[in-house]
Amino acid sequence: MLMDTKTWYNTIAPSYEELYGEEQFRKVIFIKDLYRRLFGNYKFKRGLDFGCGTGISIELLLEIVEEPYACDISEKLLNIAKHKYPNVNYIKCEGLANEFRDFFDVIISITVLQDVENPLGVLYLFKQILQDHGIVILSVLKKKGISYWKPIVKEYFNILWFDEEDKDFVFFLSKKKEL
Ligand SMILES: C[S@@+](CC[C@H](N)C(=O)[O-])C[C@H]1O[C@@H](n2cnc3c(N)ncnc32)[C@H](O)[C@@H]1O
Repeated sequence: MLMDTKTWYNTIAPSYEELYGEEQFRKVIFIKDLYRRLFGNYKFKRGLDFGCGTGISIELLLEIVEEPYACDISEKLLNIAKHKYPNVNYIKCEGLANEFRDFFDVIISITVLQDVENPLGVLYLFKQILQDHGIVILSVLKKKGISYWKPIVKEYFNILWFDEEDKDFVFFLSKKKEL
């Protein structure tokens, strides 16, 4: 039987940064640079890092929001992030739609949704917990191809900006207006 995502990330937690650190740091630098070009030094108020892992993507979040929140399904990776960034509000991934509806000004999710069984369901969750004026910064591994990701993303969001990093597609998204 294939290992589920949570078990996989818990298992590799001690060597996550050795395995993927450099690659993820490169993505964070790429996205930071894009953010600066699009938003300058603007800081959003409340921001969530969905799937923060060991906290590499939290570095991006801390540069662009005043109140950082983060969640992850792997408690072993989360422990590393908590140790590195104790001043972040760590919250549960479950129940976000009830507790944080229309709450965040920005959600970042870096190399997470390709691991999720129902990415459209997670994008619907993002739509629920994001304020109307908010943005999502989404990056996903290129493996499934852009023809898979674009229609899914466009179900609930407008694409403000699209770019390609070495391994990931990167989207800056705004919420579609409800008719
Ligand atoms: C490739 S890692 C990226 C971690 C971090 N964003 C980074 O840039 O280093 C993918 C992360 O997504 C998390 N993840 C996978 N499925 C998830 C889900 N359904 N909800 C929350 N986190 C999830 C994993 O535990 C893992 O930390």
